[in-house]
Amino acid sequence: MSDLTKDTTSFEPRIIAFFCNWCTYTAADLAGTSRMTYAPNARVIRTMCSGRLDPQFVLTALRKGADGVLIGGCHPHDCHYQEGNYKALRRYTLLRRMLESMGIEKERFRLEWISASEGDRVQRVMNEMVADVKRLGPLRLDPIREEGAAP
Ligand code: FES
Repeated sequence: MSDLTKDTTSFEPRIIAFFCNWCTYTAADLAGTSRMTYAPNARVIRTMCSGRLDPQFVLTALRKGADGVLIGGCHPHDCHYQEGNYKALRRYTLLRRMLESMGIEKERFRLEWISASEGDRVQRVMNEMVADVKRLGPLRLDPIREEGAAP
């Protein structure tokens, strides 16, 4: 059966979430300790700052099977390293534009500012992103090859 006709109702997206150690990762921890449940589809990777995120990390995640990538960082003016989140925002803006030009829907790549006290926001963002990507279906980077056509 080709991917185009595959039943995607049971599709569970794989999300890679890069969370800043000082804010969003702590908020995810808070959500956990507060027993807030959210979609379990994300694999969280802790970075010291959202500004540490190399665009290559995002591309590698998508290439290796992620259906979406979420970046979480400190709110503007709250970055532990002064301006790492501004750097992250600039990279995100460019990368998102590039991914869209490659046909990758914007819902698959998201940046959110979530402070350490916003466990409820982690819950909401995770659930929203999983629902959005579920609606889109699996990321198919090479549909021509998947269909069995000659490259
Ligand atoms: S330390 Fe959190 S975004 Fe820089």
